[in-house]
Amino acid sequence: MQYNEAVMAVTPALRRRVRGDSMPQLAATFRILSDAYLLASGGFRPVAGFLDEEEVSSVCRVMRLPSGRPWTMPILLPVSAEARAALGRSDRVLLMDRGIPAAVVQVENVFRIEKQVLAEAVFGTSDAAHPGVAWLAEAGEYSIAGPVELLDGWALEVPSGPPISPSRVARRIAAKGWTKVVGFQTRNPIHRAHEFCTKVALETADGLLVHPLLGETKPDDIPADVRLACYEALLEGYYPRERVLLAGFPAWMRYAGPREAVFHAQARRNYGVTHFIVGRDHAGVGSYYGPFDSQRIFGEFGPGELGIETVFFDFVHYCRVCGGMASAKTCPCPARHHVRLSGRELRAMLRRGEPIPPEVTRPEVAEILRAALREGC
Ligand code: ADX
Repeated sequence: MQYNEAVMAVTPALRRRVRGDSMPQLAATFRILSDAYLLASGGFRPVAGFLDEEEVSSVCRVMRLPSGRPWTMPILLPVSAEARAALGRSDRVLLMDRGIPAAVVQVENVFRIEKQVLAEAVFGTSDAAHPGVAWLAEAGEYSIAGPVELLDGWALEVPSGPPISPSRVARRIAAKGWTKVVGFQTRNPIHRAHEFCTKVALETADGLLVHPLLGETKPDDIPADVRLACYEALLEGYYPRERVLLAGFPAWMRYAGPREAVFHAQARRNYGVTHFIVGRDHAGVGSYYGPFDSQRIFGEFGPGELGIETVFFDFVHYCRVCGGMASAKTCPCPARHHVRLSGRELRAMLRRGEPIPPEVTRPEVAEILRAALREGC
C-alpha cells in the first residue's frame, strides 16, 4: 500500500468525493472488487460491508450473523502482513482497480483470518486441491472489516451485455409486473438439463431470471463471454422472450457447494427473485459434496427466514424411452436409456470435433462452444 496522490487526477466527480484525502491504497483483485461492488450495491443484503472477526466466526459456526440473521459466506478483504502494517492507524482504505480508484472501505478493524477453521466450515475440507481452499491459502493472512462505498466513475469490469446492478434488475422485474419470479444461477454453458429445470419452474411462475455468474471461475470452466453467447442463443431460439430476463451476477465462484447455494439464493432475492432453482450438486466441485447437500442445507433455516423459496431438482437426464428430459422423480427407465455428458466429456467431444447429441446440448450452443474451443478458450 502507498499513499494516494494520483486519485486527484481522475474524474471531477471522483475529485469532489476524495478531495483533501490522502489515504492508503490497496491494489484490489477482481474478487475483492466484485465483493465490494455487491456489498455496496445491495447484492449481499443484509451484509453491507466486509465482515469483522465476530461476524466471520458466527457465520462459520452457525451460518448466521451475530444478529441471528442467516448468512453462510464470510465476505473477506484479505491483506498481507505488510499491507496491514502500511495501513497503520488509517480509518479508511482506497481500493484500486488496476490503478483506478474504485471504492473506499471504512476500516473498523483488521483481524487475522483463521484459515483452517474457515476452510473446514465453508468448504467442508482443508484439501489444497479444492479451488476455494487454494484461494484462501494464497490470500493475505489478515482481513479488513468495514462498510464499503463505490466511487463515482468506477465500474466493475465484467463481460458487457446484461445488467448486473441488483436494483436495476429488480426494477426491470417489477416493471414486468411479475410476482412469482424464478432465478437460475449458472456457471456452465447452458445445456438441456438446465433448460429443463428453468422451463419446468417457469411453468408455474410469471417470469424467469437467467442469472449467470460472471465473475472468476476455475481456469477449466468456460469463460463468461462464451457462456453469455450460449445463453443468448438459447433464449433466442427456445424461450418466450417476454417471460425471461437475462442479467449477470458479477460474483466469483467459491465452489462452496451447500453454503454457496444459500448465499446464491439470498443474493438473488436482492435482485428481485422470489424462487431459486437448486439442482444436483449446486456450486459443487469434484466430489467434495453429496449430490443433494446443497438442497438439504435449506432445511437449517426456518420458513421465510431467507426471504426466498427454493425449487429443487433431482439429477436430470434425457431418456430415450420416455422421449424427453426427466429425472429419477419422473422416469422409471434404467440408466442405459439415459443420455448425459459431464462438462469434461462435452469439452473433450467438442475438441475432437465429434457431434454433440442434441439431447444434451442444443446445436446452436454446441456451435458456439466449438468455435470458442477452436479459438483456444
Ligand atoms: S453451478 O456451479 O452454478 O451450480 P451449473 O451451471 O452446472 O453449476 O448448474 C446450475 C444449476 O443447475 C445448479 O442449480 C445445478 O444444481 C443445476 N444442474 C446442473 N446440471 C444438472 C442436472 N443434470 N440435473 C439437475 N440439476 C442440474
